[in-house]
Amino acid sequence: MRRAAVPGMMGATAGRDSGKGAWDVRLTILGGGGFRVPLVYGALLTDRGEGRVTEVVLHDLDADRLHAVSRVLAEQAAGTPDAPRVSTTTDLDEALGGADFVFSAIRVGGLSGRADDERIALAEGVLGQETVGAGGIAYGLRTVPVATDIARRVARLAPDAWVINFTNPAGLVTEAMSRHLGDRVIGICDSPVGLGRRLARVLGADPREAFVDYVGLNHLGWVRGLRVAGRDELPRLLADPALLGSFEEGRLFGPDWLRSLGAIPNEYLHYYYFNRETVRAYQEAERTRGAFLRDQQARFYEEALRPDVSALDAWDRTRAEREATYMSENRETAGAGEREAEDLSGGYEKVALALMRAIARDERTTLILNVRNSGTLPTLDADAVVEVPCMVDANGAHPLATDPLPAHAAGLVGAVKAVEREVLSAAESASRATAVKAFALHPLVDSVNVAGRLTDGYIAAHPGLAYLK
Ligand code: G6P
Ligand code: MN
Repeated sequence: MRRAAVPGMMGATAGRDSGKGAWDVRLTILGGGGFRVPLVYGALLTDRGEGRVTEVVLHDLDADRLHAVSRVLAEQAAGTPDAPRVSTTTDLDEALGGADFVFSAIRVGGLSGRADDERIALAEGVLGQETVGAGGIAYGLRTVPVATDIARRVARLAPDAWVINFTNPAGLVTEAMSRHLGDRVIGICDSPVGLGRRLARVLGADPREAFVDYVGLNHLGWVRGLRVAGRDELPRLLADPALLGSFEEGRLFGPDWLRSLGAIPNEYLHYYYFNRETVRAYQEAERTRGAFLRDQQARFYEEALRPDVSALDAWDRTRAEREATYMSENRETAGAGEREAEDLSGGYEKVALALMRAIARDERTTLILNVRNSGTLPTLDADAVVEVPCMVDANGAHPLATDPLPAHAAGLVGAVKAVEREVLSAAESASRATAVKAFALHPLVDSVNVAGRLTDGYIAAHPGLAYLK
């Protein structure tokens, strides 16, 4: 598929694509037919400033999905005369040429792959979540080779582009890409921001003025402090059971456990601290999260292509349902009830936009991002990708100095990073034995025999794992 020609001036940054003007900022989205692309486009539409993204190139392997998402974006853009131009392509190299920013938000194996990841793990009595435990390893094993290929192509075709990785498991995938792109790839996640926002809200602070001392790996981090005007407000929260019961993580983990930890964990740590209960809840659920999303999204993509349907309305309905049911099994086991209305709007697209603005316009800001450690956490080597507060400017994301993690957290982070390293080396060496080692070393997989059966089960289910010999 050729990219449609776009009007614009020729100029110094025109590069290999003749359609790009000197003042154009081009964002290429890999996984451009993905469900969350309209969130990103919606955020771009709110950006009126100079240096904003003027051109969006959507790349996907599936032309129908591209078409469906383009219909949503066209409805979103109606009424905004200078909305970023949108084009689509199924040719990866063409999508990358001339890109200033590349968002990578792909899902290797699709949502049916995610459902298989869950099913195979749960049958062995272990967790199959897309980023945590056995499921995260399986998903990582099939995503790393694809992400590595993308990183190599970006290095060749768009060496000055900044790559923003949303692809899960985001920390591991960012580390795989950083081996080819160095600090030009930055991983993002909205869960630390969401947590920081909730904590600020509960403490009556303005989230923009709060510094959230959050440290760890992606989906494996802790808030150890929340400073407003130089004062740490977290002790006030930990001392107050009513305040602790008034937000998502407080209800998930319970006040006693939070006080014992002296920190507020990322919601994904619920799978660790309450592993038995979450595994059982997922086993007993009518459908796993992946299976639910697989069916829900199949309906959306079908609907969005129907000429008599507003693709934007269909997308909005689907999104609302997806957000309302996020982590519902975890909330159920904890008796945490429904999500708060304020928590339903995500924030993923806001992190992405804030990051691009800071880089493109040198608007210095602090964001929690996935970057190479470079000495920030003393128990990990310099190249390990960690999730920490970073100062961002035109030169990229620079991790801020932080206090060391307490031993229990450093231990977990070290164990999971070691597993990620086994996944990276299994992908590089195409070794089944190394894949088994990755599963077996994970703190949530309790037997080497289970690890062997998981590896065989996943290889049998996923064509994307046939490379493991
Ligand atoms: C959170 C996580 C993301 C995840 C998203 C959607 O924001 O941080 O990594 O992709 O939720 O989860 P879902 O279960 O709806 O796919
Ligand atoms: Mn995430």
